[in-house]
Amino acid sequence: MKESFKRVYKKMILEPDEFQPRPRPAGVEPWHGQKPDGPRDFLKSKVVLPSLPQVLLEIQKVINDPDSSADDLAKVISKDPKLVAAILRLANSAMFSFRTEVDTPSRAVALLGFKQAGSLALGTVSLSLFKRSKSVSVLHVERFWKHSIACGVIAQEIARVAGLGDPERFFVGGMLHDIGLYVIFESSAGLALELLDMAKNKGDSLYSAEQELLGFDHAILGGVIIKDWNFPKQLVIATAGHHNPEKAIKDPDAGVVHIADFMARALGYDLGVSSVLGFISPEAWEQIGITGEQFIEMLPEIQDLIEEIFKILNPQ
Ligand SMILES: [Fe+2]
Repeated sequence: MKESFKRVYKKMILEPDEFQPRPRPAGVEPWHGQKPDGPRDFLKSKVVLPSLPQVLLEIQKVINDPDSSADDLAKVISKDPKLVAAILRLANSAMFSFRTEVDTPSRAVALLGFKQAGSLALGTVSLSLFKRSKSVSVLHVERFWKHSIACGVIAQEIARVAGLGDPERFFVGGMLHDIGLYVIFESSAGLALELLDMAKNKGDSLYSAEQELLGFDHAILGGVIIKDWNFPKQLVIATAGHHNPEKAIKDPDAGVVHIADFMARALGYDLGVSSVLGFISPEAWEQIGITGEQFIEMLPEIQDLIEEIFKILNPQ
């Protein structure tokens, strides 16, 4: 435990900028102040909704088709050289400890299994949805990537130790959980600043400010977006429920991502937009079935894995 937190403190001293809130951009047009009529109404206005790349649509088609084979999945992955490179590097990383070198997509699918390879491909492509904005941005996109990867890796490792099955789907859940936040922040810098100010002045969380100003929070918005994209139901639940303790207790997908989100921020992989760390639902933690000590034991390895996966997936 000591080792793990020492690393965070060391980073705070050596790289203080990493922990500073992002400077406030100048010349931002104020938000119009009109409360939308629910998340769908918000999505109808001028929002920055990432467009789904063709390869993602094809992966989804293969995953959802009960007649698809491992070969079909390998073929789809092979069409995208960037995805091939990322999948091979992931398959050869410390995330998996295969004895042989994984050098082709079909070998990766054979070793990982159809479901896991599909989830991993989906998670990898998901990161490319969050592009760096060219206009004035309140969100630090690189920090957003790191937070998403950290949450994905932690969620996957918790699921693995807890024996929840198909741990890679938790990786995708973690990668996508804050998509609603990305859409809100990238859609209107004025709205983003107003949310930050409100959260800061009240000493409250960002999602409470969202609920007050918009009538819904980024988790609910993210769930709607992912549902509209026809992503697997468990990903909708993980995204929509990550700030909802009741859902986190009832559903392991929401519970694991809720815990992983908190842990990622506690380890310094935060978004740099809010100083409120939030809370972890003790019941959700209990429900997962692993102890705090077990998790703390896993921390140094998890930190290494986050840094390794970030290097592999960094869309630079
Ligand atoms: Fe969130």
